Amino acid sequence: MKSISIDKVTRLINCGQVILITVGFENKFTIATCAWQMPVSKEPPLLAIALAKKHFSSQLILKSKEFAINIPDWQLLDKVMLCGSISGRKIDKFDYAQLTKAKSKYLKYTPLIKECVGNIECDLAETKEIGDHYIFIGKPLYAKVKEQYFLEDFWDTTKVNLIFHLGSKFFFKSSPYISL
Ligand SMILES: Cc1cc2nc3c(=O)[nH]c(=O)nc-3n(C[C@H](O)[C@H](O)[C@H](O)COP(=O)(O)O)c2cc1C
Repeated sequence: MKSISIDKVTRLINCGQVILITVGFENKFTIATCAWQMPVSKEPPLLAIALAKKHFSSQLILKSKEFAINIPDWQLLDKVMLCGSISGRKIDKFDYAQLTKAKSKYLKYTPLIKECVGNIECDLAETKEIGDHYIFIGKPLYAKVKEQYFLEDFWDTTKVNLIFHLGSKFFFKSSPYISL
């Protein structure tokens, strides 16, 4: 065993699935790549994302009180990196990453990403300030998936490769599921 510096401990437990957060307010939009995410309640269903306070996406979520979780597959890895490397304050990330806006069903301002294999529309249920991040708790209003990639209630990872983050520019993909 070797010791790990405290500023690296997140890397031990956060090998999380990478999602793309979209948010809009009035005529502004952005896409933020996010690996710090987790479900936090079953009943009612609630999902948490941790976004740095300084991010444009955080500022827009505070205003619009909504966001969408878009699930990219491995083919979108280069776009995931692009959306996670520059702020939407300066550029339109839909143009920059060549991603297509899709209309949401219930959100007022926020578009979805058409190329993603799943989308979850969330109302902002709660915001917590934790250190240099906000934890935004989303109440899912509507979700859809590309049906060829989703079995009754879980991803068919024999058909779709989801993206997981090790840190920095290092990633791995989901492998075929097993049944016990
Ligand atoms: C793989 C990857 C994962 C990331 N995960 C997070 C995250 O969980 N939370 C966060 O605040 N930023 C995360 N980022 C950084 C943001 O996506 C990035 O700063 C983005 O440019 C913010 O855009 P915005 O200013 O338009 O909101 C990640 C970046 C990458 C490349």
